[in-house]
Amino acid sequence: MRFTDHFIQEVLDRTDIEELIGRYVTLKRSGANLWGRCPFHSEKTPSFSVSPAKRMFFCFGCHAGGSAITFVQKMENLDFPDAVELLATRAGIPLPQESAQGESGGISRRRIFEMNLEAARFFRSCLFDRELGRDGMQYFRTKRRLSDATIKHFGLGFAPNSFGALTDHMHKLGYTDEELIAACLCGKSQKTGRAYDYFRNRVMFPIIDTSGNVVAFGGRVLDDSKPKYLNSSDTPAFKKSRHLFALNFAKNYASEKMILCEGYMDVIALHQAGFENAVATLGTAITPDHARIFSKYTQRVIISYDSDEAGQNAANKAMRILGEVGMDVRVLKLANAKDPDEYIQKFGADRLRLALEESKTGFEHKAERILSKYDVSIGTDRIKASNELCAIIAEYSSPIEREVYMDAASKRIGIPVDVLRNSIEQIQRRRHKVAREKESREAQASLKNYGDRINPEASKNPRATTAEEAILGLLLIFEEYRNAVERGEVPLCREDFVTEFHRRVFDAVMSMHARETGFSPELLGADFSPDEMGRIQKMVVARQQLQQNGPAVFRSAVEVLQDVAKTSAAKEGDLNAQIAYLREKQAKLHKGKADKT
Ligand code: GTP
Ligand code: MN
Repeated sequence: MRFTDHFIQEVLDRTDIEELIGRYVTLKRSGANLWGRCPFHSEKTPSFSVSPAKRMFFCFGCHAGGSAITFVQKMENLDFPDAVELLATRAGIPLPQESAQGESGGISRRRIFEMNLEAARFFRSCLFDRELGRDGMQYFRTKRRLSDATIKHFGLGFAPNSFGALTDHMHKLGYTDEELIAACLCGKSQKTGRAYDYFRNRVMFPIIDTSGNVVAFGGRVLDDSKPKYLNSSDTPAFKKSRHLFALNFAKNYASEKMILCEGYMDVIALHQAGFENAVATLGTAITPDHARIFSKYTQRVIISYDSDEAGQNAANKAMRILGEVGMDVRVLKLANAKDPDEYIQKFGADRLRLALEESKTGFEHKAERILSKYDVSIGTDRIKASNELCAIIAEYSSPIEREVYMDAASKRIGIPVDVLRNSIEQIQRRRHKVAREKESREAQASLKNYGDRINPEASKNPRATTAEEAILGLLLIFEEYRNAVERGEVPLCREDFVTEFHRRVFDAVMSMHARETGFSPELLGADFSPDEMGRIQKMVVARQQLQQNGPAVFRSAVEVLQDVAKTSAAKEGDLNAQIAYLREKQAKLHKGKADKT
C-alpha cells in the first residue's frame, strides 16, 4: 500500500521532529539547530544535527540524514509505510482504510493476527481434548510440572501429529492456502504446492505482543528429537528480533526490574513461581532492538541464562548490548542447575529469590569469571588476571566506576591501585588511538568514494559525481533552479547524469516539482532507502553551507556534465581496450583469491 502524499504530509506536519528525536537522543540547542551524539554510529563529540525549521536531521560524521520518517525507519528498522504508520498512530491520525492493512503480497497484518488467534484456539482445544491432547497434556503437567492455571494463562496448546489437522480447520474458517503459508502456520508442499501443517506433534507456545495480538508460535517436541524447538519464521506481522516472549504479562511487573531468560520454559516456570517480570528472546540472541524495548519498561535487567559455557558467553554479549542503552545489568549465577527452570524444580522459588537478590553486577560477574581461571598466588597467573581485569575496567567510561572496580581488583589480587590505574590508562590511550585511526580511515575511504554502496559508479566518475551532487543539492533547495530546468532555460535532462543513482534522484526531484501538492523532499523517502535519504540530505547540507550558490555555479556544474559526456563519447572507440583491461583485472583478482586459499 502506498500512502498518498497528502497523508504523509499531514503525518509530517503533525510530528514534532525535535520531540521525536529527543526521545532517543539528548539534544542541545546551538543556533538554529539542535545537536547530539549520533544514534547511528558511536561517537564522543556530537555531530548529529536536527533542524526543526527544515524538519530534517543530518549527521556530519556518518552522513545519516532525512526526515522524521527516515529517522524512525533507521531507528526502529521499519520500512517506509510502517514508519509512516507508526508516526501517524503516534500523532493520533486515523489511518486511511486500506493503509490499516500494512499489505504484503496482498495479505494484511490484521489477517495474519486473525489466523494466528484461530490457530491458537485450535491448538488449545487439541491440548484439552482427552484423546488428541493426551501426550501434550501429560508433558506439560508431569514432565514440566505446570498447573492447569499456568497452561491456560499462557494459552499453551498442542499441534496434533498430522499434516492436515490445522490446515483443514482453517480452510473451514475460510482461510486460503496462500494466507496460511504467508502466516507461517503452514508449509507449502514442493510436489503439489498445497499447504500442510507446519507444526506437528509439538506442544505449542503462542507469542503475544503487548497489544494482545498472537504474532507467532514456538513449538517443542515431546521427546529428544530434533529440532527441539520450531519457531515461526519472520512474517509481515512478525520479526523475531523485535519481540520478547511473555512481555505482554511482564510489562506490568517491570517497574523495578526484569528477568531475561533463554527459553520459553524458563519464563513459564518463573511466572508460575511468582516472578512475573521474566521474558525471553525467541530463540535468538538479544539485539539492540530488544535492548530498546527493555529500556522502555525498566531500569534493571537480570540476565538469567543457562549456566553452561555457551549461556555465559551469551550473557556477556547481552550485558554489553543492554549496557549500551544505559540499563543497570545484573547476572544471575545458578549453582547446580542448568537453567532457571531446573533451579526452581530443584531448590524452589525462595532460593531463587535469594539468588536473584545476590545477582552480580556486570563487573563482578566478569571479574569472577576471570579470577576463577587463575591462581593469584602464582606470579604469572597474577599477571594474566591483572591484565584481563584492567582490560575490562578500561571499558567503563565513568571514572567513578573505574575507581570502584580498581579498588576491588587491587584488594583481590594484591596489586597496588596506582599500578592498575597506570595500566588502565595505557589501555585506554591505546584504544583511543586505534579508534581514531579507524575513524580517519573510514572518513578517507568515504571521501574517495571507495566502496560506495549507495552510488557505486561514483569512484569511476569523480568529476561527474561532484558536478551532479552540486546540481542536485541546488535543485533540492531552490525552486528557481527547478523552474529553469523545467522550462528548458538550462540545458539539462536525465540523460546528462552519468551515475544511475543521481539520475534517479533527478527524476524524483523533477517529478515532485511538477506535482501540484507542492515540493517536499521528505516525501522522497517513499522511493529511496534510508541510506539513500542520508546521501540526498548530504547534498542539501553541503550546498547550504556554501556562500556561493548563484546561477553561475549551477551553470558551470551543468557544463561539466556536458563536457564529461563529450569526452566519454570520444572515448567510445576505446571500448575494446576497456574490456581487455577489465578482463585482466578480474584475472588478477582471481589469482589473488587463489593465492590466499
Ligand atoms: P527445555 O529443554 O524445553 O527446557 O528447553 P530449554 O529452554 O532449557 O532449552 P535450550 O536452552 O536448549 O533453548 C533455549 C531456547 O532456545 C528455546 O526456548 C528456544 O527458543 C531456542 N531453541 C532451542 N532449541 C532450538 C532449536 O532446535 N531450534 C530453534 N529454532 N530454537 C531453539
Ligand atoms: Mn530448560
